[in-house]
Amino acid sequence: MIAVSTLHELSQRQNQLVWLETNWPIALFMVGGQVYAVDAHCTHQEAWLHEGDVNADTCEVSCPLHQARFNLQTGKATHGPAAAPLMVYPTQVDSAGTIYIEPITPWWR
Ligand code: FES
Repeated sequence: MIAVSTLHELSQRQNQLVWLETNWPIALFMVGGQVYAVDAHCTHQEAWLHEGDVNADTCEVSCPLHQARFNLQTGKATHGPAAAPLMVYPTQVDSAGTIYIEPITPWWR
Protein backbone atom coordinates (compact mmCIF):
# COMPACT_ATOMS: atom_id res chain seq x y z
CA MET A 1 0.00 0.00 0.00
CA ILE A 2 1.22 3.50 -0.83
CA ALA A 3 0.37 6.57 1.25
CA VAL A 4 -1.10 9.22 -1.04
CA SER A 5 -3.08 11.68 1.07
CA THR A 6 -4.92 12.22 4.33
CA LEU A 7 -8.58 12.33 5.28
CA HIS A 8 -8.05 15.94 6.32
CA GLU A 9 -6.83 16.96 2.84
CA LEU A 10 -9.45 14.95 0.99
CA SER A 11 -12.35 16.15 3.13
CA GLN A 12 -11.45 19.76 2.34
CA ARG A 13 -11.69 19.14 -1.41
CA GLN A 14 -13.93 16.02 -1.74
CA ASN A 15 -12.01 15.14 -4.94
CA GLN A 16 -8.22 15.07 -5.21
CA LEU A 17 -5.60 14.24 -7.84
CA VAL A 18 -2.68 12.16 -6.57
CA TRP A 19 0.13 10.31 -8.33
CA LEU A 20 1.20 6.73 -7.68
CA GLU A 21 4.11 7.25 -10.09
CA THR A 22 4.91 9.59 -12.94
CA ASN A 23 2.25 8.93 -15.62
CA TRP A 24 0.02 7.12 -13.12
CA PRO A 25 -2.50 9.69 -11.87
CA ILE A 26 -5.27 8.64 -9.52
CA ALA A 27 -8.47 10.48 -8.62
CA LEU A 28 -9.52 10.21 -4.98
CA PHE A 29 -13.11 10.81 -3.96
CA MET A 30 -14.85 11.01 -0.61
CA VAL A 31 -18.44 9.83 -0.91
CA GLY A 32 -20.60 9.07 2.10
CA GLY A 33 -17.53 8.89 4.33
CA GLN A 34 -15.86 6.30 2.07
CA VAL A 35 -12.67 6.86 0.10
CA TYR A 36 -12.59 5.72 -3.53
CA ALA A 37 -9.58 5.66 -5.84
CA VAL A 38 -9.92 5.32 -9.61
CA ASP A 39 -7.88 6.18 -12.68
CA ALA A 40 -7.82 9.95 -13.02
CA HIS A 41 -8.30 9.96 -16.79
CA CYS A 42 -11.66 9.31 -18.39
CA THR A 43 -11.58 6.27 -20.69
CA HIS A 44 -13.23 8.28 -23.47
CA GLN A 45 -10.78 11.11 -24.23
CA GLU A 46 -8.74 11.34 -21.03
CA ALA A 47 -10.36 14.32 -19.33
CA TRP A 48 -9.51 14.72 -15.66
CA LEU A 49 -12.14 13.00 -13.55
CA HIS A 50 -11.14 14.63 -10.26
CA GLU A 51 -12.64 17.78 -11.84
CA GLY A 52 -15.97 16.04 -12.37
CA ASP A 53 -19.14 16.24 -10.31
CA VAL A 54 -20.00 13.42 -7.95
CA ASN A 55 -23.49 12.10 -7.36
CA ALA A 56 -23.40 10.75 -3.80
CA ASP A 57 -26.72 8.90 -4.22
CA THR A 58 -25.45 6.77 -7.10
CA CYS A 59 -21.74 6.93 -6.15
CA GLU A 60 -20.90 8.09 -9.66
CA VAL A 61 -18.57 10.71 -11.08
CA SER A 62 -19.46 12.62 -14.25
CA CYS A 63 -16.71 13.43 -16.68
CA PRO A 64 -16.45 17.22 -17.06
CA LEU A 65 -15.81 17.02 -20.82
CA HIS A 66 -18.63 14.92 -22.33
CA GLN A 67 -20.52 13.86 -19.18
CA ALA A 68 -19.81 10.12 -19.26
CA ARG A 69 -20.51 8.63 -15.85
CA PHE A 70 -18.58 6.01 -13.90
CA ASN A 71 -19.49 4.08 -10.79
CA LEU A 72 -16.77 4.72 -8.21
CA GLN A 73 -17.23 1.33 -6.53
CA THR A 74 -16.93 -0.80 -9.67
CA GLY A 75 -15.38 1.52 -12.26
CA LYS A 76 -18.15 0.61 -14.70
CA ALA A 77 -19.08 3.21 -17.31
CA THR A 78 -22.77 3.75 -16.58
CA HIS A 79 -23.40 6.42 -19.22
CA GLY A 80 -21.73 7.10 -22.56
CA PRO A 81 -19.83 8.20 -24.48
CA ALA A 82 -17.26 6.25 -22.45
CA ALA A 83 -17.61 2.47 -22.67
CA ALA A 84 -14.44 1.09 -21.07
CA PRO A 85 -14.37 0.88 -17.28
CA LEU A 86 -12.04 2.71 -14.94
CA MET A 87 -9.56 0.84 -12.80
CA VAL A 88 -10.64 0.90 -9.16
CA TYR A 89 -7.87 0.68 -6.58
CA PRO A 90 -8.36 -0.70 -3.06
CA THR A 91 -7.94 1.94 -0.37
CA GLN A 92 -7.25 1.89 3.37
CA VAL A 93 -7.25 4.62 5.98
CA ASP A 94 -5.21 4.19 9.15
CA SER A 95 -6.02 5.55 12.60
CA ALA A 96 -4.04 8.72 11.90
CA GLY A 97 -6.17 9.43 8.81
CA THR A 98 -3.52 8.58 6.22
CA ILE A 99 -5.01 7.27 2.98
CA TYR A 100 -3.29 4.35 1.26
CA ILE A 101 -3.83 2.90 -2.21
CA GLU A 102 -3.03 -0.63 -3.34
CA PRO A 103 -1.12 -0.10 -6.62
CA ILE A 104 -2.59 -3.05 -8.51
CA THR A 105 -1.48 -3.07 -12.13
CA PRO A 106 -4.16 -1.56 -14.35
CA TRP A 107 -5.20 -3.19 -17.61
CA TRP A 108 -3.73 -0.27 -19.59
CA ARG A 109 -0.14 -0.55 -18.24
S1 FES B 1 -13.50 12.70 -22.14
FE1 FES B 1 -14.85 11.93 -20.62
S2 FES B 1 -16.70 11.65 -21.67
FE2 FES B 1 -15.35 12.38 -23.17
